[in-house]
Amino acid sequence: MKKHVFSNVDELQPSLLNAFFDDVATRPHVISLSVGEPDFPTPWHIASKGIQAIQDGKTFYSASNGLLDLRKAISKHVLKEYEAKYNPSEVLITNGASEAIDLSLRCLINPGDEVVLLDPGYVSYEPLVILCRGVPVRLKLDFNSDFSIDISKLEKLVNEKTKAIILNFPNNPTGGVISEKSVQEIASFCLKKDIILISDEIYSELTYSKENCSFLKAKDFKKNLIYINGLSKSYSMTGWRIGYVLSNKKIIEKMNIIHQFSTMCPSIISQYAGIEALENGDDDIKEMRHEYFKRRDYVVDRLKSMNLELVVPQGAFYAFPKIPDVGMNSLDFCKSLLEEEGLAVIPGTAFGENGEGFIRISYAYSMADLKMGLDRLEDFIKKHK
Ligand SMILES: Cc1ncc(COP(=O)(O)O)c(C=O)c1O
Repeated sequence: MKKHVFSNVDELQPSLLNAFFDDVATRPHVISLSVGEPDFPTPWHIASKGIQAIQDGKTFYSASNGLLDLRKAISKHVLKEYEAKYNPSEVLITNGASEAIDLSLRCLINPGDEVVLLDPGYVSYEPLVILCRGVPVRLKLDFNSDFSIDISKLEKLVNEKTKAIILNFPNNPTGGVISEKSVQEIASFCLKKDIILISDEIYSELTYSKENCSFLKAKDFKKNLIYINGLSKSYSMTGWRIGYVLSNKKIIEKMNIIHQFSTMCPSIISQYAGIEALENGDDDIKEMRHEYFKRRDYVVDRLKSMNLELVVPQGAFYAFPKIPDVGMNSLDFCKSLLEEEGLAVIPGTAFGENGEGFIRISYAYSMADLKMGLDRLEDFIKKHK
């Protein structure tokens, strides 16, 4: 094989998340609180529209930017929820939010461009920046400030090479949300510096006692905003692979060029199901959110009773507690927990080096699994203290 046969993919390490999931899959008695995936079946009225599409022979390519009716439904949804005016030509349907993140970066980043991202933060941002030969710049979130954004710290990381900032609220892995004041300040800053803000709001429907503010609420921000969302989390549709982007027409057209050449279009069957989700799925969201809310309270109470320090999560479905002082780093803690107690959770370092000292617990699991899993965590801590 030729030397240097691969591209800069060689600079990437495989995701720690996937390594964990693969390991857990081989251990049948393990309780997993590791995956960030809703445990509810896709609501039947939504799934049946996918089946209907197959029965009706709607099994071909769609327009690359997505079915007009789905884009119209998204325009209507964001107008109703956020008073944000985006017409269907400013919407792009993607293969999950994952493709939307990739397209955003690929259409913006030239070699050497800097991209500010959160640490801890979602696992795919940094590798995708590196694949574009951009330079990731980490904004460290601080436990003592509730993992919220310190805008003066953010401003200090920005220079003339900064092309974009990627934010994600409600946040994976911390469960943090963002206030309206921060949204307005960050938007004004991006406008002043002419930086693109990529806002991944895939957990927008999952907030609990505190409100999260969407960047769609920021005034006159369309010029600099790439808004990403999707149906995976809110409607329990991870396997359907429908995400979407809202931005100005110029950015959407550029993203669509890459999208056409790389994936052509998302599954048309899923897009028909997506129309039903957006038009008639509000009650499903409410019901699932209600369940997550109960689970969140249960998980927080249990972690507090184990004397684990944590910022009470206000959104998404993750808790991100500090590990107790048992002489182990996050990775060793998770490995030993898996070996000794058969409980899988994710080491905080999977989300960046600033995640050291934390673990991520997903509460997108049944109450029975949560109870059993947290009992195991409690036993493990007692044993090692
Ligand atoms: C913050 C964040 N963004 C994007 C994604 C990917 O979502 P999708 O299933 O729509 O590709 C996830 C999935 O866990 C996520 O947590």
